[in-house]
Amino acid sequence: MAIPKSFIETLRLSSDVEAIVSSYVKLKRQGRNLVGLCPFHSEKTPSMVVYPDTQSFFCFGCGAGGDVISFIMRIENLDYVEAVRFLAQRAGLTVPEGQAEDRLSQIKPVILEINRLAAHFYHHILRSADGNAGLQYFTERGLTPQTMVKYGLGYAPPGWNTLRDYLRAKGFSFEQMYDAGVVNRGREGSYYDSFRNRVIFPIVDLRKNVIGFGGRVLDDSKPKYLNTNDTPVFKKSRNLFSLNFAKNHAEKRLILAEGYMDVIAVNQAGFENVVATLGTALTPEQARLISSYTKEVVIAYDSDGAGRKATDRAVGLLEEAGITAKILTMRGAKDPDEFIKKFGAQRFRMLLEDAGSVTAYQLGVIREKYNLDTPEGKSTFLTEAVRYLATVHSAMEREVYAGELSAQTGVLRETVLSNIELERKKNFRRDKKKEWAGIASSQDLYRDRVNPQKATNLREAKAEEGILAFLFKNPDHLTGILSRITESDFVTDFNRMLFFGMIRRIQGGEELTLSGFAEELSPEQMSRLAEIVNRDLPMSEEILSDYIHILKDAPLRNLSRHVAEMSGDELLDAVERLRQKKK
Ligand code: UTP
Ligand code: MN
Repeated sequence: MAIPKSFIETLRLSSDVEAIVSSYVKLKRQGRNLVGLCPFHSEKTPSMVVYPDTQSFFCFGCGAGGDVISFIMRIENLDYVEAVRFLAQRAGLTVPEGQAEDRLSQIKPVILEINRLAAHFYHHILRSADGNAGLQYFTERGLTPQTMVKYGLGYAPPGWNTLRDYLRAKGFSFEQMYDAGVVNRGREGSYYDSFRNRVIFPIVDLRKNVIGFGGRVLDDSKPKYLNTNDTPVFKKSRNLFSLNFAKNHAEKRLILAEGYMDVIAVNQAGFENVVATLGTALTPEQARLISSYTKEVVIAYDSDGAGRKATDRAVGLLEEAGITAKILTMRGAKDPDEFIKKFGAQRFRMLLEDAGSVTAYQLGVIREKYNLDTPEGKSTFLTEAVRYLATVHSAMEREVYAGELSAQTGVLRETVLSNIELERKKNFRRDKKKEWAGIASSQDLYRDRVNPQKATNLREAKAEEGILAFLFKNPDHLTGILSRITESDFVTDFNRMLFFGMIRRIQGGEELTLSGFAEELSPEQMSRLAEIVNRDLPMSEEILSDYIHILKDAPLRNLSRHVAEMSGDELLDAVERLRQKKK
């Protein structure tokens, strides 16, 4: 364990969940608890609850939850140790270092060193006679030697073991290389280079560590790009290519491109403020990461169908992260790389200045679908445009574009506007319904990834959760409970693991807190634990007995398959009936 439990405890006492959460989210008191708009999904009515009693939070809309560390991990996009450091700094505490470390924290520096050496190796080859093919490729694509050096570009030769043998001679084991992702494992347990006969794009983080690689073929073979899979030092979904250069030039805005070559071409043309995702579509984490550097992003994706889809998705995520998105429309070129090559940096700058609002872009896309010379064309265009404008939040924007629609179609501006308002009313009612449906489906037992056994053992799982909640709040009852039930009576593995974890902590003399679990549970599991211990269930020793009976009553369990279909309320009724019967 990298960070001592005692320190986490100190940290917890000095990082009040209410104070921390309310520095991100406006909270309103509601009885003992507080509620606010959940920052982890988009919503208009608050469904996130903060529980000062258990120092935790839970969102009934999206199911995010946990302790104050989980909250920081999610919102600041950090891993566990980083979140602890973040909170410690905020509280003016110093994280004790140099404790016995787990495998993960030992392997990280090794992977970084392997990556650093591999990047140097590939770059060195590019500049040697063995790298002619790569050098020629980059040169033909218009990259200057300075750019190749700046990005540390490289070439992986066609051999199967070139890098592997180089790193072996440096003293690294094949397993370590495999952990870094620079070699693959073959069927007979042999290892071979992951990148062969490809030009190499090192991925560098903000601390100048090489965390992974992209590699492109030199011809039209497939797959065009290979990217390092996630490793202990690399999460695709949390990093952006070239952010190390862009981060100091992002005040005004960032340009978001689709791939490595676009970023490098735009950068070489004199725009440092450009980034791309790493072989995946934009993620919410990346949108939040971007939002800590800038409030405006110009999306410069390819102008093809896939690019448009990706644009739509990115717009939504960026706006949810509080960023104004603008869209660059290129004519005569399919992507920024090609555009710059054809028309030059100056024209690209003009394109940037000209990047339109999302509204203008979307209306343009709709407009292209219809022929406005015919009455039908006009009216279907208007219907769709009005439907779109109804989703635009700013009233001013709606008015402006209503004016444009009116000019394009000859329909009165007032008519357009009143249709937009009608549509908005409809949407509002539908959203309300959807929000409720969303809450229902987040509790949809058939898609339970944290506790997959719950769906088919609903009755037992609910009883287990009741026992967990009881024990969490009454740890002094442990001996009593253990005299009647053990872990082996638990039916679902996830709940059994939680039960065991609580027993271990109580017996070890630890105070039971959510934070005590944060290190060993995933964010989703933490969310579930927060949900379980905060659930507003009636709580008494009698009810506890009933839960224990449910787990003990094996025959009854087998008889009650249909119980799996009961809702939570029906189940509580059943527990209640069972209790009456015993009296
Ligand atoms: P593109 O196919 O648009 O590639 O994919 P590109 O960046 O324009 O590359 P060039 O100009 O053909 O060299 C965009 C991004 O999608 C990811 C890469 O990150 C790429 O930069 N991608 C694409 C993959 O991860 N794998 C692939 O096979 C293809
Ligand atoms: Mn391209």
